[in-house]
Amino acid sequence: MSIRPVTAAHAEALAAIHQAAFPPDEVWSATVISLHVGLPGGFGFIDPRGGMVLARTVMDEAEILTLAVLPEARRQGLGRDLLQAAMRGAAETDARTMFLEVAEENTAARALYARCGFTEIGRRKRYYANGDDALVMRVALGT
Ligand SMILES: CC(C)(COP(=O)(O)OP(=O)(O)OC[C@H]1O[C@@H](n2cnc3c(N)ncnc32)[C@H](O)[C@@H]1OP(=O)(O)O)[C@@H](O)C(=O)NCCC(=O)NCCS
Repeated sequence: MSIRPVTAAHAEALAAIHQAAFPPDEVWSATVISLHVGLPGGFGFIDPRGGMVLARTVMDEAEILTLAVLPEARRQGLGRDLLQAAMRGAAETDARTMFLEVAEENTAARALYARCGFTEIGRRKRYYANGDDALVMRVALGT
């Protein structure tokens, strides 16, 4: 079973993965997920083994909105495959750059993003509800 593009019809499956991957106060409901998939430029991918990514392209810039892998499916390459699928998907549109925000404390996600070529370009102080700073990261697409 391989990664496939999502539609709003996948919202419940995506929400189940999100709920298992994030703490309760960071979980996105199926309604929120389906709204994001339906935004202009919104797109995403699901890995049936237990991973999901949502992203959005506006003009020549893309953004990772959320990325989640089930705890029991981690360290098997799903996160990297999903992120790279989103990078390819964005590059196939007009996007030339991709951005994301990640909590400074999230060492797993930061390591994954660095492995995929993202570099830190800024910091948003106390961005998250728990007071953590967000790091803003960027990668050039299609180079
Ligand atoms: C971050 C997350 C998506 C990574 O998914 P994953 O499927 O485990 O990642 P991968 O197996 O593809 O890892 C790819 C690389 O990222 C790095 N990495 C991933 N998890 C890591 C960890 N816990 N510690 C250190 N490096 C890690 C490694 O370099 C890894 O390559 P390797 O396994 O060959 O060493 C997953 O941990 C997750 O869902 N976390 C909770 C939700 C979250 O934080 N989402 C991101 C919000 S910004």
